[in-house]
Amino acid sequence: MTTATQAVKSETDWTKRPLAELIQWIVNEHHSFLEAALPRLRQKLLDATRLDCGRNTHLLREITQVLITMSTGLHEHLMKEESVLFPYVVSLEKALAHGKPRPYTPFGKMSSPISLMEDEHKDVHSALARMRALSNHLVLHEHWEPALREFLSGLDSLEKDINQHTHLEDNILYPRARDLDGQFK
Ligand SMILES: [Fe+2]
Ligand SMILES: [Fe+2]
Repeated sequence: MTTATQAVKSETDWTKRPLAELIQWIVNEHHSFLEAALPRLRQKLLDATRLDCGRNTHLLREITQVLITMSTGLHEHLMKEESVLFPYVVSLEKALAHGKPRPYTPFGKMSSPISLMEDEHKDVHSALARMRALSNHLVLHEHWEPALREFLSGLDSLEKDINQHTHLEDNILYPRARDLDGQFK
């Protein structure tokens, strides 16, 4: 996607566009970002740990643990959205537009998987806050500082993107999907 297209898309009023279009935007923009950013951040943390010479061993070990757990959880979260929930929301929107009955769902009420996704977003935000808090206690030293800055700037970018991503899902996509679900008898 070109920069110009990105600028137009990021200014889109997603409360008014079809959900299928919003979902496509979330997957292309935010899910793709995460898939590339998480391994990159892990590498930056490995580099920082290698150069640390044992001064922050305990903190770096804990940050690594939080990052690995968060990445694994996020990977499964994205899979659930892309393979189960998002296709169902798209099929619901299509059915309503064509006056068709509610499509079959293997997970019962729509509110259950949505609540699960919302809870998982909270876990991600807690993990980010934990990594931020731990990072604030790291002791700097001359040789290690550039590697730390690389890691912290990667963490910043990740946090910004996740905030935007979860805002689109928690405040726009999922409330609209619940509303859509409620329109079927
Ligand atoms: Fe997502
Ligand atoms: Fe999500």
